[in-house]
Amino acid sequence: MIQTHPRAVTPRRAADSVLDVSGLTVVYDSDPVLKGVDLTVAPGEVVALLGHSGSGKSTLMKALTRTAPLTSGQVRVAGRDVASLGAGDLRSLRADVGHVFQNFHLVPRLSALANVLTGGLYAAGPASRIGLFSRAQRTRALELLERVDLLAQACQQARTLSGGQQQRVAIARALMQDPRLILADEPVASLDPRLAGNVLGLLSELARERSVPVLVSLHVVALARRHTDRAVGLRDGRVVVDIPSAGLDRVAVREIYGADTEFGTDDEETP
Ligand SMILES: Nc1ncnc2c1ncn2[C@@H]1O[C@H](COP(=O)(O)OP(=O)(O)O)[C@@H](O)[C@H]1O
Ligand SMILES: [Mg+2]
Repeated sequence: MIQTHPRAVTPRRAADSVLDVSGLTVVYDSDPVLKGVDLTVAPGEVVALLGHSGSGKSTLMKALTRTAPLTSGQVRVAGRDVASLGAGDLRSLRADVGHVFQNFHLVPRLSALANVLTGGLYAAGPASRIGLFSRAQRTRALELLERVDLLAQACQQARTLSGGQQQRVAIARALMQDPRLILADEPVASLDPRLAGNVLGLLSELARERSVPVLVSLHVVALARRHTDRAVGLRDGRVVVDIPSAGLDRVAVREIYGADTEFGTDDEETP
């Protein structure tokens, strides 16, 4: 039986929310993975998704663009009712959602610039699919590379960049599509602690300056505390904590990870 944390689960209903999930259930092969999740995210808000491996973090992110099945409940993303979308509207929803992945997912032999340009493919239309990007698109991609401090590497093949640099290219690529929401699934799990802090700090800064909300799954509590606004803890498919990240104390951490956890102890304060 899960003990109730005094500040656990404070449902929010922002009128201008970009993401509004209520009672979301996802069942895989008669196995319930999400069991009635409520989550609201406002523009520019950076929300950490915490929880043990297998708690349902990736499934929740996938459900938001219907790459996981929506068994029941309501999901609204950027004003759309995700469950009822036809194929065309679903494509347009997916174009509105930027992704950042643990392993970057860049095209290794393409330049940093070309990788960023692919983020605008949906909006750019068929011409860009054969490599004809407009001057305006190239300028925008270069501006984004400058913003993530990689202008000097614009023409370098992605495979020759360091992990931290590749993730910054991936962030620029996500922004190139002018997203209404960014989903970042363990974006810093492959980086060393110092780079993890830098990349996550940059992602949060960009989210706030452009009013694009970010939902980011993390497995280091200290990073959530330092770089995100709110922390949502999933445990066994349920939201057990929804609090300002500054309030991620031992009680909250225990609520998410259980009593025998080492997460969030003082020696984890490093990066
Ligand atoms: N495509 C799938 N088919 C069946 N079960 C799945 C699928 N994807 C995830 N699961 C199960 O759902 C649960 C939650 O997984 P996941 O969302 O990946 O957790 P997390 O990202 O928190 O580690 C796990 O038990 C996992 O095995
Ligand atoms: Mg996962």
